[in-house]
Formats: sequence, structure tokens, C-alpha cells
Amino acid sequence: MKMTVRLLEKRYDKNYFNCGYNLLDDYLKKQARQDVDRDLSACFVLIDEDDIVKGYYTLSANSIRRDDFPENLLKKLPPSYPDLPAVLLGRLAIDKSLQGKGYGEILLINALKKCYEISESLGTIAVIVDPIDEKAQNFYNRYGFILLPTSKKMFLPIKTIKQLLM
Ligand SMILES: CC(C)(COP(=O)(O)OP(=O)(O)OC[C@H]1O[C@@H](n2cnc3c(N)ncnc32)[C@H](O)[C@@H]1OP(=O)(O)O)[C@@H](O)C(=O)NCCC(=O)NCCS
Repeated sequence: MKMTVRLLEKRYDKNYFNCGYNLLDDYLKKQARQDVDRDLSACFVLIDEDDIVKGYYTLSANSIRRDDFPENLLKKLPPSYPDLPAVLLGRLAIDKSLQGKGYGEILLINALKKCYEISESLGTIAVIVDPIDEKAQNFYNRYGFILLPTSKKMFLPIKTIKQLLM
């Protein structure tokens, strides 16, 4: 089956999307387009040959408060940046029918590539994710995401992403 990653469009069928989490399914079906229209996020979808959505992720500009960043990584950063620029990979989900077949990794790498490209023209120190539960945390952990000490969010420095992609 030929799968492609595209920006979300009206013509793609997202009605049957089911990743096992209502929150993530409902977001795609009811909210994603509105957020895109309001320039709050970009939504990329994994579609099959029949334009049926089998996965998606969202990206938004974001920041990490300096106080929330691990102390050992702060040493080289000047204090004049109270908020550190970042990209939020807000949601990432694969339809249950395709989970465990490598598509989650494909979408994650696709997202990280985009974040790296963005960082070449706009200062960005890291990609942040907000895992929905411990299972999702374990998934991100595999790719080197680090838990922010003060929240359940995780981050991956752009420098690490560059090494991953090289
Ligand atoms: C988490 C999710 C995106 C992973 O996608 P997937 O297509 O099932 O994962 P893949 O098949 O690409 O797996 C890639 C690797 O991660 C591993 N993996 C997958 N899910 C994992 C988990 N929860 N914990 C640890 N490792 C995991 C796989 O074993 C695989 O490793 P391998 O190549 O060594 O076998 C998907 O299961 C999903 O949509 N879950 C529900 C929503 C969710 O939790 N989203 C996360 C962000 S909130």
C-alpha cells in the first residue's frame, strides 16, 4: 500500500480515524482544521491511496521557560533568553489498523525533519512533545526525548535531531 504524508486538506477522509484515544481522534475530526485555519498549528496527515487518513501530527511554535530547562544544558545559554524558542509536536497518532508497522516512526522522523528545516531559518532550540500517557512517553524515550524536570513534557534538542538525521 502506498502511503504519503501531506498537509491536511478537506478532501481527505478522517471520519474513520481511530488510534485508540478519543481525545486524539476527536481532535483530528473536530478541531484540527479550525486550528489550521486560525494559524495555531500545522497538521500533517498520513494518507493511503484512497485519501483515507491513517495517521497525523501537528506542529506549532512554542517555547520552554528557562526555569523549566535542565540546569546542565543551561550553562552555555545567555540569560537574556527567559523563554527558549521551540517547536511543539503537539499530537502524533497512527490508526489502530496500522500501529506497530513502523508508520509512527515514519511520521516522527518526518516531523523532526521539518523541525530541523525550520531551525535553519528560525532560532529553535528543541522539539517538545506532550505524551498522552506512559506508553507514549516510552515511545518518545526510544528516540532520545528527555523529560522536562518540571512537567510531563519531553524535549529533544535540535542539535541531537541534526545528528539523528545525518
Ligand atoms: C505511539 C504511536 C504513534 C506509535 O506508532 P506505531 O506505528 O505503532 O509505532 P512504530 O511501529 O512506528 O514503532 C516504532 C518503534 O517504536 C516502538 N514502539 C511503538 N510503540 C511504543 C511504545 N508505546 N513504547 C515503546 N516503544 C514503542 C516499536 O516497537 C518500534 O520499535 P522497533 O522498530 O524496535 O520494533 C501509535 O502507537 C499511536 O498512535 N498510539 C496512540 C496515540 C499515542 O500514544 N500518541 C503518542 C503521542 S501523544
